[in-house]
Amino acid sequence: MAVARNKTRVTRPAVRKKSRAAVKSKTASRKSAPQFDSLQQIALAAWRKLPPAVWDHLVGGADSEMTLRRNRAGLDALALRQRVLVDVRSFDLGTSLLGQPLAFPVFPAPVGGFLGKVHAEGGPAVARAAVSRGTTAFIATAAKPSLEAAQAAVQRPLIFQLYVRGDRGWVEAILDRVKAAGYGALCVTVDRNYYGRRERDIVSQLPVKEGFGDQSYQASLNWKDLVWMKERVGLPLIAKGIATAEDAVLAVEHGADVVYVSNHGGRQLDHAQGSIEVLAEVVDAVAGRAEILMDGGILRGTDVVKALCLGARAVGVGKLLGWALSAGGEAGVARMLELLEIEVRTAMGLMGVTSINQLGPQWLCRVPVLGTPNATSAYPLLAAAVRDGSTGRAGQ
Ligand SMILES: Cc1cc2nc3c(=O)[nH]c(=O)nc-3n(C[C@H](O)[C@H](O)[C@H](O)COP(=O)(O)O)c2cc1C
Repeated sequence: MAVARNKTRVTRPAVRKKSRAAVKSKTASRKSAPQFDSLQQIALAAWRKLPPAVWDHLVGGADSEMTLRRNRAGLDALALRQRVLVDVRSFDLGTSLLGQPLAFPVFPAPVGGFLGKVHAEGGPAVARAAVSRGTTAFIATAAKPSLEAAQAAVQRPLIFQLYVRGDRGWVEAILDRVKAAGYGALCVTVDRNYYGRRERDIVSQLPVKEGFGDQSYQASLNWKDLVWMKERVGLPLIAKGIATAEDAVLAVEHGADVVYVSNHGGRQLDHAQGSIEVLAEVVDAVAGRAEILMDGGILRGTDVVKALCLGARAVGVGKLLGWALSAGGEAGVARMLELLEIEVRTAMGLMGVTSINQLGPQWLCRVPVLGTPNATSAYPLLAAAVRDGSTGRAGQ
């Protein structure tokens, strides 16, 4: 991705601005949020507001960012088919996840460490925004101010996402807190046995806690641990980071109630397939024995529709969530979800589909990819601003 370069990107001052952004964001979220009329405006506002190093941390991927780009390229390689003269005055976008109703099949993915960089109360803000739109949220181990605060902010049980950062005693203590806090499910992220090498962060010297310390606990994680964790916490289990049919089968065999197709937004293994490219094989392998979630590159309502066509029950947003929280705090996240829903309704209406139950692979066809997909290419105005390095940005 071509990104405007300036001196502040690779120096400490760019990093120090992060805390000012967090303070500003807290103040902004107390005031009424700016009115965004498109997802693109949300992303542009975040780009203007965030210090370059924090922006790069959010949009960057591992190594050469091939997996990151394939997430988008895989979505761009699918075209939607359309039928006309269908009565599309009303839509049914409702589904469920582990028995809990979802008014709309999109949820905030866990972006734990990032929330604290742009929002003092990121966990509760994301939880409230998601629930206000009738969906759920994944709350990460690193979410601030605490896992309890996020769950206490809403009435419905949320999903807790675990990174294993300690021994069995450490995990037990976290799982007991998760249960006591009232979470409805445990999500274990399984594609992070080592921390991916995100070179934007290395170059900008952004202090990222996750990259340091003893990684041996995460590296030793295996299928038996998953079984033990599910038993210990007594909640439904979600395995996040599944990218092959083989592992999907193992996940089901080891008690996963939900198989979550993800490559961590391209932040972990580079030169992997795009998430949408592996979705169909995972859906086939699971064969209805577990529910399927997916994330990776979802930036548009049409992306949501494509993932649902290939068998995802619902999809997560990571970078889009980070942009929305940075641009408008809690209200920004709620508006982002609302705008995505408007885009889904518009796409379905134009396709002649009135219910997500009608979606299936018959609505898709393979097409050549146009241009060079990357983290911003779904938003032409943002892509142009990033490419041309327009002024008015934090740090300029
Ligand atoms: C800034 C950032 C922080 C993330 N932190 C976590 C995390 O704490 N736990 C986790 O399981 N995934 C984490 N992820 C991955 C997301 O949950 C999700 O899989 C990914 O962002 C989806 O791709 P997208 O960003 O293209 O939407 C993070 C992603 C981003 C962008």
